[in-house]
Amino acid sequence: MCGIVGYISKERNPNSLRLGLEALKRLEYRGYDSAGFAFWDAEKKEIVCQKSVGKIAKLEEKVNGNGNKPVLANPIILHTRWATTGEVTEINAHPHSDCAGKIWLAHNGIIENFHVLKQKLEEEGHKLSSDTDTEVIAHMIEKFFSGNLEDAVRKALPYLKGTYGLVVISKDDPEKLVAAKLGSPLLVGLGENEYLVASDPAAVIAHTKKVIYLDDGEMVSISPNSFSITKGYNVQQKKPENIEWDMEDAQKGGHPHFMLKEILDQPESINNSIRGRVLAEEGKARLGGIRYIEDKLREVEKIKIVACGTAYYAGLIGKYMLEEYGGVPVEVDLASEFRYRKPILDKKTMVIAVSQSGETADTLGAIKEAKEKGAMILGIVNAVGSAIARESGVGIYNHAGPEIGVASTKAFTSQVTILALLSLYLGRQRGLSLVMGQRIAKEILSLPGLVRETLNLNDRVRELAGKYKDYDNFLYLGRKYNLPVALEGALKLKEISYIHAEGYGAGEMKHGPIALIDENFPSIVICPSDSVYDKVVSCIEQIRCRKGKVVVIATEGNENIKKIADDVIYIPKTLEMLTPIVSVVPLQLFAYHMAALRGCEIDKPRNLAKSVTVE
Ligand code: M6R
Repeated sequence: MCGIVGYISKERNPNSLRLGLEALKRLEYRGYDSAGFAFWDAEKKEIVCQKSVGKIAKLEEKVNGNGNKPVLANPIILHTRWATTGEVTEINAHPHSDCAGKIWLAHNGIIENFHVLKQKLEEEGHKLSSDTDTEVIAHMIEKFFSGNLEDAVRKALPYLKGTYGLVVISKDDPEKLVAAKLGSPLLVGLGENEYLVASDPAAVIAHTKKVIYLDDGEMVSISPNSFSITKGYNVQQKKPENIEWDMEDAQKGGHPHFMLKEILDQPESINNSIRGRVLAEEGKARLGGIRYIEDKLREVEKIKIVACGTAYYAGLIGKYMLEEYGGVPVEVDLASEFRYRKPILDKKTMVIAVSQSGETADTLGAIKEAKEKGAMILGIVNAVGSAIARESGVGIYNHAGPEIGVASTKAFTSQVTILALLSLYLGRQRGLSLVMGQRIAKEILSLPGLVRETLNLNDRVRELAGKYKDYDNFLYLGRKYNLPVALEGALKLKEISYIHAEGYGAGEMKHGPIALIDENFPSIVICPSDSVYDKVVSCIEQIRCRKGKVVVIATEGNENIKKIADDVIYIPKTLEMLTPIVSVVPLQLFAYHMAALRGCEIDKPRNLAKSVTVE
């Protein structure tokens, strides 16, 4: 995800640009595709901007290419961009400026009404040059500027719909750095000889541990020797807090592992995946990446989903959704099998590749094969600009933010969410009723809140992990939408805790795995109150008869289930098709706590790589 840094030194400091770039580099772990900065050159009396696609090191090369002459850069704004609106190009990289190149701004978040604002600004004569939503903010500030940057920002902000964390400088009010926040994180670091503004504590921690976290609606105006925080026109008095973490912890948001951070990030990552994509009133999904092939999509006769590991399980859930609501027959293939089994493809087949990293060799191989056979390819990819995203041509980005823990968690819930949006999109093209469309849309919008509620189970799940940590085998069972969740729960447990776990369809129990059951082989059964509830209850009874221990994931309010379970974890109710997004959360937490209690290395489990770029 994007990263923001603002830097303002209290004294004339020829090293300030280097310090700003070092702070920006501490946000590299978040992932990005381009970077840039702009600063006030106090000697030349001009604003200098540099941007480049790729790593920050490339930006540094540009700086060094200028003879590495010391500059009195103060203030500076810096940015790493993870593309959301507009392709990965230098023009789209931040900072962005107004018409006259006097106001420069870097932004995190999404301005949802930027199309409307852009049109109005253009009608008023503004010239915008990028495809980004961010650029409109610089022009809005220009519109209100009459000598005081802080005032102009304050007047422009109410016109923006969406989220932002932003930093701004201006040639006509040069000794000032203004920052504002709504929905995207932003903090002010109070250093001895400098102030910093950043989207993440990791950027400031080498300079100071004294920070003020801005709240939504707040703005800070910083000059070399003072700062003031306001909300509207009211000055806010805020006490600095001390960051207790060291550098590595800071990147994990204070959590002991990236995996836990990413599990807890899910309300936000799901929100990012659905932002601007749900038309609640119309009961439709708006998916910008596929709007160009809208007509072609109407003609699709079958879908084949190809993916690996966790992404494959997301694809299996997608099959249930796309068939039930999208109205298209779907097959799901392990990408590693797909091209070796001579699949039958034609122009009316759409192959969907699902991948977090966008670099998985098997998935890439599968879509190359499908392309050669004339199929339409659609990528559901998290990493912008990755090989699969490029090879797919059309696609839907997850926008879940970088996933660093090897065990995939937030990517999974995001992939399932995107597949739900796609089912809604195709369904509404093919006769899904307005009422049903509205119901699905409304429930998709409530997912971040439902997942947040489910995360409150963390302590309860940790307790449960304490009870079960010494068992060496587990069976995970689920049916229909929750069969793939059982597979995913088992995969999570085995990959990070090295405990043997099998995922099975609850209906398959009696066809074999039941032979494993005894008092030493616990089962985790996903049994929400849905259309197959009674069938899954029978399966639990069969385990109980054989003295097997059972942990049940059930829907809130189901008291009866306690009679046949050793332990129950309650999850909130949602539409059956969306249950996996909620039911997987306790399984992720269970795997995490089991691994932590057994002392395993969680973020980099043995033998595994984050991107599997070999066949
Ligand atoms: O980057 P991708 O989504 O293509 O990766 C696919 C699998 O390699 C990945 O999901 C893997 O199974 C994870 N370790 C699961 O946690």
